[in-house]
Amino acid sequence: MQLKSLFPSESFYLSKIQYFKTLNPKINIHETAFVTAFFRMGDVALSQDRYAYLWSKSNIEAHAKRYSKAVSSYEPYAHCLRNRFFFDTINKLMIQNRIEVLINFGCGFSMYPYLLDNSLHYIEIDKADVVTHKKEMTTKWEREKKLPTRKISYLEADFNLASQDKLYEQIIALKNGKKSFILLEGVLFFLGKEDTKRLFELFGKLQQPDEYLGSVSFLPQLEKQLVFRKLIDYVESNLEKNELFQYQTVADEFYINLKGYELTDHQHTLSLAAYYDPKRFIPKEEVLNEHMYILKKTSAQ
Ligand SMILES: C[S@@+](CC[C@H](N)C(=O)[O-])C[C@H]1O[C@@H](n2cnc3c(N)ncnc32)[C@H](O)[C@@H]1O
Repeated sequence: MQLKSLFPSESFYLSKIQYFKTLNPKINIHETAFVTAFFRMGDVALSQDRYAYLWSKSNIEAHAKRYSKAVSSYEPYAHCLRNRFFFDTINKLMIQNRIEVLINFGCGFSMYPYLLDNSLHYIEIDKADVVTHKKEMTTKWEREKKLPTRKISYLEADFNLASQDKLYEQIIALKNGKKSFILLEGVLFFLGKEDTKRLFELFGKLQQPDEYLGSVSFLPQLEKQLVFRKLIDYVESNLEKNELFQYQTVADEFYINLKGYELTDHQHTLSLAAYYDPKRFIPKEEVLNEHMYILKKTSAQ
């Protein structure tokens, strides 16, 4: 008897891998934006994102559900809290007449322009795939009256690029001296230290004293927790990463010591849960506790 015939051939295994890949395809970094939009549908009264449903796609729903099961069942809730926090913060600053333009870096499919007032100008920035799709779909939905009309400028960017000079020129022309709120939400985990440094230098150049910056990141201490390990394991096997991909965490000191800014508010998933949903019991160790920082520009650069 030939031994070889007992074992399936290499091509048999390769075809099996291909088959499983089609059953469970990886998603790209920019597609994570669909997942966060799906999470915001979980509790619309909490997230305030009444338009998240527009982005719903069956393959993404399957990913989002698999992700919650593998990493933390509190992820949809955490994303609803995060959206609510920034919605309330930006809305309040707008009512107080302190900001005139919202500049969203790595905007994904978040819907702040449609949840907030028409009087703000909106600059939405993300990878080309995201902004092209977002512009096309929101224009269509505005035409179909599924969305109200808004003044939105879309800019394509890649935060991994060594120079952000072109992006600076594009934003400064659109901003045109208006008081801004810059938002960086759900992005830093995907970037490296150098890209992060370059982005915050760009924010410093774009903003004048009394303008605002909101940023989201994980603390380095979280790396020791099982829930973070589960996140890394999930990302390793389910996300199509580029070679620059980092599992970045950021210490509080980065924000406290940020040149030209002062920290005016600091929240995290658990503090927001205690504020918005005080009666609910949350098992701390099961939450991917994200930190949210609001900073105000204090000096011109
Ligand atoms: C998890 S999503 C978050 C989207 C949105 N901010 C939210 O909270 O729903 C991450 C977003 O960051 C964008 N992103 C990641 N790396 C980027 C890069 N190098 N340049 C530009 N955008 C990037 C992705 O395309 C994606 O839209």
